[in-house]
Amino acid sequence: MNQWTREARYRPLSDLAPEVYQLMKEEVRTSPWRFSFHIQPPTGLLNDPNGFVYHNGTYHLFYQWFPLGPVHGLKYWYHMTSKDLVHWFDEGAALIPNDDPDSHGAYSGSGFIKNDQVHIMYTGNKRDAEWNRHTSQIVGHLRSDGRIEKHLPPAIPTVPDGYTEHFRDPKVFQHQDVWYCIIGAQRNDLTGCTVVYRSEDAEHWTWIGELDTRYDQFGYMWECPDYFELDGKGILLFSPQGIEPQGDRYQNIFQSGYLIGDPLNLPDVTFQHDDFVELDFGFDFYAPQTTLAADGRRILVGWMGLPDIAYPSDRFNWAHGLTLPRELTLENQQLRQKPVQELTALRKETLYAQELTLEHHIMPAQAETFELELSHLQLSSDQLELKVRASDQEETILRYEAETKRFTIDRSKSGAEVPAVEFGTSRSITLAEPLHTLRLFVDRSSIEVFLNDGEAVASSRIFPKSTSQGIVLTGDATAHLAIYTL
Ligand code: FRU
Repeated sequence: MNQWTREARYRPLSDLAPEVYQLMKEEVRTSPWRFSFHIQPPTGLLNDPNGFVYHNGTYHLFYQWFPLGPVHGLKYWYHMTSKDLVHWFDEGAALIPNDDPDSHGAYSGSGFIKNDQVHIMYTGNKRDAEWNRHTSQIVGHLRSDGRIEKHLPPAIPTVPDGYTEHFRDPKVFQHQDVWYCIIGAQRNDLTGCTVVYRSEDAEHWTWIGELDTRYDQFGYMWECPDYFELDGKGILLFSPQGIEPQGDRYQNIFQSGYLIGDPLNLPDVTFQHDDFVELDFGFDFYAPQTTLAADGRRILVGWMGLPDIAYPSDRFNWAHGLTLPRELTLENQQLRQKPVQELTALRKETLYAQELTLEHHIMPAQAETFELELSHLQLSSDQLELKVRASDQEETILRYEAETKRFTIDRSKSGAEVPAVEFGTSRSITLAEPLHTLRLFVDRSSIEVFLNDGEAVASSRIFPKSTSQGIVLTGDATAHLAIYTL
């Protein structure tokens, strides 16, 4: 990545002749592993989902985007819209980092509806001549031409005393007719936290204070906070950086998870909550964001990737995608995450749909992009193993051990190139319930597995050959098995 000098990373797209950008797009098109049903960048690097809102029949979902290569550089917001959370339309770049406060990137933020218009609040990232960072929080709204108009100067122009310039990713929400925003921050002593502001009009913001949680020494920075209420509970999502691995937990370079408790006590910003829970035990998941759907469902989308990691698609000039949208529900004080029901619209051909008495070994199908659903599972052997994207040379293995209720994803042989091997090649979780359902979505370079109706989820990138399409089940069990091409 040596060609990525500072100048190259901070060059705006408008500096490029349109033909050169066109050539980049064509190069991306020659790449193996382009997704078939996930949001992915046309060129360059995608990271966090941003500005996720529903308005007048349309979902708006933006993402952090560096157009010119698979590295983190000058960030734009790219805009996608959908009527059903399944089919997404490409609306192009919507937020352009071309003003002084966001001259080095339009960083992450959230969406909200005010005066019947989509609004956003995001972080302006600016570097001075000494390359010192200056962050501000900027409000804007989506115009009918698809561009975001910024309300400058920034609504929160500087960082308050006590915090470093790592101060970003405002999430706006409304509570009893007052607007609040929660921002990810780093204290001067280099520990992570979130802070809260309030506003009557979502333009003029007043500092309330730091959100008081039990986790006051938990990593060096908290990115991308989100707060919402579900069934009378308050849920704070955030992505802490700098957490050490602990058994099966915290295995990735950075983590994402949640605290659940009583609704935030907003006047004095205190929060009574349980322990931090990771949202996803896969290899590639970060910076999730939620929104409220038309019918009141809480929907979450994450970045299916992580910072500071090289991926095989880099050499085709693109990197990463977003996860499928998941519906969040609450059961026994824990979040459950299920693929949104609309995703059944992706099903094309039914490859397999029957009650199954599995004795040892079955090769039910061959497919590259598919959904597999195993339900009413009753296992009589010690373990169940499912291999997907399998061939003589490669396979991605999902394994469940009945005695320990441990579920493992092994991507050590998932392709000729396996990303981030320095962080290990398998991920495991111990389930609370014996495995009874498994729902798996496999795209050209990803797997997302939902266990026990959303008790646990894992999202992972894999980079197999397109010809590795075997699906093999091993174990003794009765179950219902369905496989659909997508
Ligand atoms: C998380 C993050 C955010 C920041 C954005 C910049 O991945 O680091 O904190 O706003 O990415 O692209």
